[in-house]
Amino acid sequence: MIYTDGSVFLLQGRTYGYAIRVLGNGFLQHLYYGGKVSRCDLGLLAAMGDTTAPGDDINMDMAFDGMPGEYGFFAHGDFHDPTAVFVRSDGAAVSRLRYKSYRIYDGTARVVGMPHVRKADKTLEITLKDDFSDVEILLNYTVCDDSDVLVRNAVVKNMGKIAVGVKKAFSFCLDLPNGEYSMMRLAGTWGRERCPETAPIAHGITRLQSLRGASSHQTNPFTAVMRPGCTEESGECFGIQLVYSGSFAITAEWSRNAQLRIQGGINDVGFEWTLNGGEELVTPQALLTYSCGGTGEMSRSIARFLRDRIIDPKYAYSPRPVVVNNWEATYFDFDNEKLFPIIDTAAELGIDTFVLDDGWFGKRDDDRSGLGDWFVNEKKLKGGLNTLIDRCKSRGLKFGLWFEPEMVCEDSDLYRAHPDYAITANGVQPARSRNQLVLDFTRKDVVDRIYTAISKILAENDISYVKWDMNRSITECYSSKLPPERQGEFMHRYILGVYDLAERLTGAFPDVFFEGCAGGGGRFDAGALYYFPQIWTSDVTDGYERTKIQWGTSMCYPLSAMSCHVSVCPNHQTGRTTPLFTRGAVASLGAFGYELDLSKLTEEEKSQVREITRNYKRIQRLILDGDLYRIIDPFTRDYFCEAVVSADKTEAYVVGERVLCIPCDYNRYVYLRGLDPDKVYEIEELGVASSGAALMNVGLLLPKTADFGAWTWHLKAVEK
Ligand code: GLA
Repeated sequence: MIYTDGSVFLLQGRTYGYAIRVLGNGFLQHLYYGGKVSRCDLGLLAAMGDTTAPGDDINMDMAFDGMPGEYGFFAHGDFHDPTAVFVRSDGAAVSRLRYKSYRIYDGTARVVGMPHVRKADKTLEITLKDDFSDVEILLNYTVCDDSDVLVRNAVVKNMGKIAVGVKKAFSFCLDLPNGEYSMMRLAGTWGRERCPETAPIAHGITRLQSLRGASSHQTNPFTAVMRPGCTEESGECFGIQLVYSGSFAITAEWSRNAQLRIQGGINDVGFEWTLNGGEELVTPQALLTYSCGGTGEMSRSIARFLRDRIIDPKYAYSPRPVVVNNWEATYFDFDNEKLFPIIDTAAELGIDTFVLDDGWFGKRDDDRSGLGDWFVNEKKLKGGLNTLIDRCKSRGLKFGLWFEPEMVCEDSDLYRAHPDYAITANGVQPARSRNQLVLDFTRKDVVDRIYTAISKILAENDISYVKWDMNRSITECYSSKLPPERQGEFMHRYILGVYDLAERLTGAFPDVFFEGCAGGGGRFDAGALYYFPQIWTSDVTDGYERTKIQWGTSMCYPLSAMSCHVSVCPNHQTGRTTPLFTRGAVASLGAFGYELDLSKLTEEEKSQVREITRNYKRIQRLILDGDLYRIIDPFTRDYFCEAVVSADKTEAYVVGERVLCIPCDYNRYVYLRGLDPDKVYEIEELGVASSGAALMNVGLLLPKTADFGAWTWHLKAVEK
């Protein structure tokens, strides 16, 4: 809901309120963001706002620094990190933004060329005008009445005739009072993506960012800003998340006045965008999620929002294929003879789709050559893809294929014909990573070329699944086709090129399911989810490490977005051995599949795989539709436990794991969460029936297992 009397704007979602007002001198003041307030509270909020409003003689005033704002400006008495910086033709970068107009319309804001919220109830658009230039800033606030997510972005417009240089243009600025907050960030590296780390926000600037051209393994474009006392289950926090897959920054600045300013958007390091007269720059959307039920409630609100409004509705709640992927089974070393038995066994074990990973194209027997040559290597795969596809079909399986569209190897036909397609700065030795270079996706002709090659394969073959990988960070950031004054646009233009290709491929092949991937989970973000309903969570598939990776990822992504596979033991990445049941149970908390040579399993293992797959198909509805309750944190305890509960609370699925056994660690209880206290639930594995209240308050004894042993409980509400 959006209410206004022309000077105060009150936005309301499911449980939050957000208030802004236009001061008499035209400045836009942030009044409030938190639990729901009503129209009758606006007088109180305005009176509180009076204490931070700048005085009437604004030319005398240095008070902008203390005014909670909606979009900070630069070099005019606001000494925070600016939200945007734009430079006039005479070099002056001073700005002072004042309210010009507003409008409220149905639906979501227009975000051309970038992933965005697909549907919403209402949008408030406020236009600000710079006192010293022809720049206008449009601030968009999109609300959904049944959600705790408020969507924001900004559009920078040059309303004059002379070009303006934009050096920074963040998507939003949010000021919260009482500066003592903690920040949860999702930090990591390859194989240890998205580990939650919480620390008090200190004075000065705290900055989360990626400069890698992708949202990155190292820092996810998400943070939870938590009020004192906020825990997983209670207290207030604000989730801040970008719908963006490129180099980003999110900053939190605690300044002398007891105020915390949070901002974020396209990374401004090295950024510069020329806006000619009449042009505009649209910034990525940011999702602001309010929770008064701790980080757990925040995650559930975000997961619901992403499924309802960002992920393609055709796939968001649809059962996902259970895949077997051949990467860890064969790596590059395969031919039909090696793949047929995997396909045949997959069919026997109830698996739906066979995905052929890296190595099927060009000359690609290792990672030194071939990327860019998207045609079948018939020496390796006799009869081409059709032989494999026919084999799949004859066994009732669908077929999926791996691509790495953005990359090229120097040893490839594509590179030999078009060396200029690769990003190589003039006279600068390109940094190599995994023996590959990045294609210059700022160039439409390069994107067109890759589109043509990939769409040919998809059009000519019966392919139902694509795994889109991206295996290195971007360096050099230079396009030979951009003029010198536009080189600062490179990183953002690159990701726009990626989105363009994704938009065209998913549009042309709506029945193909696209899975995202970036050397494991290096581009796992809300922008990527717009095109890829699920993303490979990590290259590490170890049955214990995955509890941590998936726990962290679930902070701001739904379970159904996380591709989770069962692989062999000893695990290829950690060398650890965990029971097959454990690997299956942990992988069942996501979009499930296998990553091993099924034909090498013993008969006993096969029957376990059959059972694990059957169990997954049975609980998949909960993974797609349900709400996650994180119960025991594997980062701080020797156990892991999570429960997924159906929206109507009639069903739940619990997965637990014991890490290392602790001697004499008897009588430990797990307290379930998210159940209806008044319902009676039958627990299939335990043969008991108890009220939701008892299961949450009295708890259940943690099962005794060996190291890395897991358990699952299926709960169903029964008549009392
Ligand atoms: C990346 C992916 C893997 C696999 C390989 C292939 O590392 O994360 O799953 O596809 O590339 O080269």
